[in-house]
Amino acid sequence: MNSIVNLDTQYTGFSIKPSEQCPERLIELSFPKATVDAFLAATAEWPVQALEYKSFLRFRVAKILNDLCAGQLQPLLIDTLVDRNTGALLIKPEGLDDVSQAEDMVKFTTAIAHCYGRSNFDSMSGQYYARFVVQNEDNSDSYLRQPHRVMELHNDGTYVPEDTDYVLMLKIDEKNMDGGNSLLLHLDDWEDLEKFSTSPMAYRAMRWAAPPSKKVAADVFHPVFDLDAEGQPIMSYIDQFVQPADFDEGNWLTDLSESIENSPAINGIRVETGNFLLINNHFWLHGRDKFTAHEGLRRELMRQRGYFTHKKTVRKPTQ
Ligand SMILES: [Fe+2]
Repeated sequence: MNSIVNLDTQYTGFSIKPSEQCPERLIELSFPKATVDAFLAATAEWPVQALEYKSFLRFRVAKILNDLCAGQLQPLLIDTLVDRNTGALLIKPEGLDDVSQAEDMVKFTTAIAHCYGRSNFDSMSGQYYARFVVQNEDNSDSYLRQPHRVMELHNDGTYVPEDTDYVLMLKIDEKNMDGGNSLLLHLDDWEDLEKFSTSPMAYRAMRWAAPPSKKVAADVFHPVFDLDAEGQPIMSYIDQFVQPADFDEGNWLTDLSESIENSPAINGIRVETGNFLLINNHFWLHGRDKFTAHEGLRRELMRQRGYFTHKKTVRKPTQ
C-alpha cells in the first residue's frame, strides 16, 4: 500500500493496517474496547437526540474521541481521506456489534465524521444522518432499499447543491443475509477512466433529479467529471438520477454505466455489524452487491455524507 500515513506507527487508542479485503487501497482502523468504552462513558450525558438538537455537540464528541487517542486520530483521518492513493477506511470499534447498541454506533460515527468534516442535512431523514432498513419486501422508488439486485456503482450527493466530500456507511444490523457486500471502485483502478474522463461529454453539464422519496425538489446541473486541485479526474455520477437531454448524452451514459459495472477492479467488501466504511466521495464509487431472498431478512444501515472542514482538494463542480 502506498499511503500518505505511516502504517508502522504505534498510535494511542487505535491501530491501523492495510485491509485484507483491499490491501492496496483500504485502511483498516480498529479501536480496542477500552477506547470505545471510555468514549461512551465520557459522552454518556448526551443521547443522540442531544447531538441532533445541538450541532456543536457533534464536534465536542469528536474532540473527546480524539483526546482519548492523544490527538493522533484527527490528523490521520484528515490525511487519509484526501490521499488519492487510499482515501478509504474500514473502521471497527470493538464491542459495538449488536443492533441494541445502535444509538452508541451513531454517536461513535458522529465523533469520527466531525474530526475532519461536518455531516450535511439528510433530506430523506430530516437529520444529519439517515438510518434505513432493508427487508425482504420493498416498494420504494429507488434501488437503495431493494434486495435481490445490485445497487450500481455511484457517487453520493449528485442531486444536491451541497459539497459531498465523504460518505460514511455503517452496518447497524444484519439478519439472514447471504451476499450484499459493499462494492467499491477506485477511479484510478478503472481501466476506462481515461477514455471517459477525456471525452467532450465528460464536462457537459447534465441534469440530475431525484425521485420523491429523496424529498429534494429542485434539479441540479453539473457534469459527470471534474478535476481536483491537482488536475486529476473526479466524478459526481449516479445512473438512476441523471436525466440525459438527448440521444448523445443518453448513449454516452449507457456506455459509461456498462464500463463501470463490468470493471474487473471492483472490490467486494464485507462489513460486519457495528463496522463502517468511510470513503472520499470524489474518487471512489460505491454500490452494493445483490443478495439472496429470505423471509427473515433484515438489514439496517446508517449513512452520513458531508464536507471536509480541514483540507480541500476538490474544486466545486462546474455549475
Ligand atoms: Fe450511495
